[in-house]
Amino acid sequence: ARKLKVAVLGHGAVGAGVCSHLLAHPGRFELAPVLVRDPAKHAAACDRPLEFTDDPAVALAGTPDIVVETLGGTDTARALSQSVLRDGSHLVTANKAVVALDIERLNDLARQQGRQLRYSAAIGGGVPILELVDLLGRNGEILAVEGVMNGTCNFIFDQLKQGTRLADAVSEAQRLGFAEADPSTDLDGHDAADKLVLLAHHAFGVTLHPSQIEKESLNDLDGNRIRAVNEKGMVFKQIARCEATPDGRVEARVEIVALEPDHPLAGLVNEGNGFLVKLPQKTVSVRGKGAGRWPTAEAVFADIMDIQRSYLTGEAEASPVPENPLSHIRRMSTGQVA
Ligand code: NDP
Ligand code: HSE
Repeated sequence: ARKLKVAVLGHGAVGAGVCSHLLAHPGRFELAPVLVRDPAKHAAACDRPLEFTDDPAVALAGTPDIVVETLGGTDTARALSQSVLRDGSHLVTANKAVVALDIERLNDLARQQGRQLRYSAAIGGGVPILELVDLLGRNGEILAVEGVMNGTCNFIFDQLKQGTRLADAVSEAQRLGFAEADPSTDLDGHDAADKLVLLAHHAFGVTLHPSQIEKESLNDLDGNRIRAVNEKGMVFKQIARCEATPDGRVEARVEIVALEPDHPLAGLVNEGNGFLVKLPQKTVSVRGKGAGRWPTAEAVFADIMDIQRSYLTGEAEASPVPENPLSHIRRMSTGQVA
């Protein structure tokens, strides 16, 4: 098969990891100049055969086969995500904020162009939660999905328990590459709410808007509550949950909850993520590293490899309109939230 041209947008915690994977497969992929804000800084720090540009037109010249979006934010990233699909590239993105705002529009653009939109890395870092929800949701039986889906908050709660000050715990989460560019996105529940939008779409076929989802902030915890919970041997977690109600709605919220130590999500440490998918007869769980360069870059690279395989089988070029990946999912009439 021919080499695929890949444009990586962003060379931060995630983008640099994705570039490493792509460079390790020179027979399969050729890289376009990587889009960054400060090309000189990246060129000086990088000892790999990469070029950098701050001009999207240079990064995207010649319509790459695959564009990988790891910029973050919803301004440039949102506009570029739409335009690269419109121009006929496949889009692999780690940016849940953009997908949460535009999931239907991006899916439509991808379908119209016969291209793929993939975002496995957008929830759970390296944890295959979207794949699990797609699999278990085939018969429309999912009742609820809940979990710890923000690695930064989990890391911070762990640090607070060990006596670290909140500001220091946040700085450390930033240094380790877990936190969003603006960490209040993590602490205030916006990141988890974006992830719930994606999960609710896959589990229940509804499209929520992130602003509709009620969020409790880690910053609202007061010292007395923290001490009382610690004394009882319980643990704080940021829990995000979406569930189908008997009257056909979907409720979603992000809360700070004190869990008993034997709760299945209580034992998650550091940047761990864990999910419980509730079915009528059982609950299926999955957990793993939910943030950071390598787990996330591996999830992005898995998406890239899936697209590359579709070229090997001829599927990528043969089918102008691929099957809607959500067509098997029960459609619910409205998407309301608590
Ligand atoms: P970083 O802040 O580490 O990296 C962002 C990169 O994008 C930087 O190289 C930056 O350039 C570049 N960039 C940002 N805006 C622009 C712009 N307008 N024009 C050109 N370049 C730009 O972010 P992360 O890698 O941590 O996250 C990227 C995305 O992945 C986010 O959407 C995040 O939510 C998602 N994600 C992150 C995970 C993580 O663990 N970090 C896990 C799962 C998803 P420069 O360096 O020059 O400033
Ligand atoms: N900031 C996010 C988190 C990155 O901490 O979970 C992974 O999506």
